[in-house]
Amino acid sequence: MKIFLDTANIEKIKEAASWGILDGVTTNPTLVSKEGKDFEQVVREILEVIKGPVSLEVVSTQWKAMVEEAKKLRTYGENVVIKIPMTEDGLKATKALSSEGIPVNVTLIFSPAQALLAAKAGAKYLSPFIGRLDDISSYGMRLVEDILTIVDNYGFNTEVIVASVRHPMHVLEAALLGAHIATVPYEVLKKLIKHPLTDIGLERFLKDWEKMKK
Ligand code: E4P
Repeated sequence: MKIFLDTANIEKIKEAASWGILDGVTTNPTLVSKEGKDFEQVVREILEVIKGPVSLEVVSTQWKAMVEEAKKLRTYGENVVIKIPMTEDGLKATKALSSEGIPVNVTLIFSPAQALLAAKAGAKYLSPFIGRLDDISSYGMRLVEDILTIVDNYGFNTEVIVASVRHPMHVLEAALLGAHIATVPYEVLKKLIKHPLTDIGLERFLKDWEKMKK
């Protein structure tokens, strides 16, 4: 499973990239606004570090404006993926952009039917939002399972990005289901590294080593 970092914070991106496990980055307007920096500066810093797919989201809502905005975003780099919201205009923009070979990540997917339409419109990536469904007492991971079945049934050339990840179990379940990608917040990624028995085991090894030297 590919792992993307779900952030626009360059320090976190650099740190996670240094672990050798990072395949890409996803951002959204909320994440970029948190950085309190100029958008272009944020994007350029990310693209300097990440050579894999970097999703940048359009803020236009009309399809022609989305397409125009997407083309501007693509001038930042060949690895820029355009994030388009799952709306009627979003579908039109997805069709137009994918027909020109521009990769689209359809975001804010909350139902299998939405995913089916996004895949048919040519989305390279589908982003179901798991945590936000769990938040309203819906089983988010079931959505991932259904989307993977649909993608497999028809052989769509699209990858499922498990998004709105809240904790390590979301990542583990995504991997067990065979999701192509999970986009993970930095704090969750750090938690995935840790295990108390690893820390205890290492401490013991080092103590025994010291004893032996004495
Ligand atoms: C995905 O691409 C989104 O940026 C993100 O996963 C949204 O997650 P949230 O529900 O934590 O805002």
